[in-house]
Amino acid sequence: MTRVIMHGCNGKMGRFITDLIKEEEDVSIVAGVDTYDGVANDYPVFASIEDCDVEADVVIDFSNAKAVDGLLDCCIKRNLPVVLCSTGLSEEQLENVKKAGEKVAVLKSANMSLGINMLLDILPQIVQLLAPAGFDVEIVEKHHNQKLDAPSGTALALADSMNEAMENSYEYVYDRSQERKKREKKEMGISAVRGGSIVGEHEIIFAGADEVIEIKHTAYSRRLFGKGAVEAAKFLAGKPAGMYDMRDVIAAKNQAQ
Ligand SMILES: NC(=O)c1ccc[n+]([C@@H]2O[C@H](COP(=O)([O-])OP(=O)(O)OC[C@H]3O[C@@H](n4cnc5c(N)ncnc54)[C@H](O)[C@@H]3O)[C@@H](O)[C@H]2O)c1
Repeated sequence: MTRVIMHGCNGKMGRFITDLIKEEEDVSIVAGVDTYDGVANDYPVFASIEDCDVEADVVIDFSNAKAVDGLLDCCIKRNLPVVLCSTGLSEEQLENVKKAGEKVAVLKSANMSLGINMLLDILPQIVQLLAPAGFDVEIVEKHHNQKLDAPSGTALALADSMNEAMENSYEYVYDRSQERKKREKKEMGISAVRGGSIVGEHEIIFAGADEVIEIKHTAYSRRLFGKGAVEAAKFLAGKPAGMYDMRDVIAAKNQAQ
């Protein structure tokens, strides 16, 4: 049985995962952590991770960027593997995540879905073919009106996967309103749309002369993120220190089948 601490248990994703895990036989939530206490849970809930003294095998985090530093410190202290799903982390925080990975197992993923993680694998190959042929690359992402960070962590991960394949030659452009000049080849525009209850859309646009190729991923439900996080938690429990990602979870699953 994998024992989980749900960090951010009273948020949208935390509540979703709480319901999801009720259907699972080999994993259970033994405690939750949330600064908001207006939800009735059938496990104990603590106001901060430092206060949580319940024994567990792994933490699933869907809280917010501000909560991540304290969470990492605590996971290192308690040698607790952590599935880190909160987005909007600063450069400094990303460095801290890497350092934490030297001491404890950390699985960080801006997007827990299978489809997005497959895109992260194939986009490097596509951009290496299309960019030299003159195609401009732009990303448009859409999310619900409650999302705090922009652009999404997923849009940045998709951009990074292509930028790394092109020897980091791209410059990300988030706003073109302040300058009147033509787009340069080395630019990669990343635009964010916010509205309604959109779960998550990511569109990668390769625009060439007289032709456009678009690759689009649409998340229709939070269910896929929740399921991915639970699979990741089962995978990470008991793992040695190191940085892991969803591709490791998918590979381990494929190997087991
Ligand atoms: N990686 C993914 O696949 C993925 C998918 C969806 C959302 N996210 C990210 O996960 C995070 C949470 O998303 P959400 O939609 O559930 O948001 P939400 O705002 O509904 O929930 C966040 C919860 O965290 C709690 N919280 C805030 N500060 C805290 C702290 N210091 N300690 C403990 N709990 C704290 C809030 O009270 C809230 O209940 C966001 O950063 C979002 O972008 C990632």
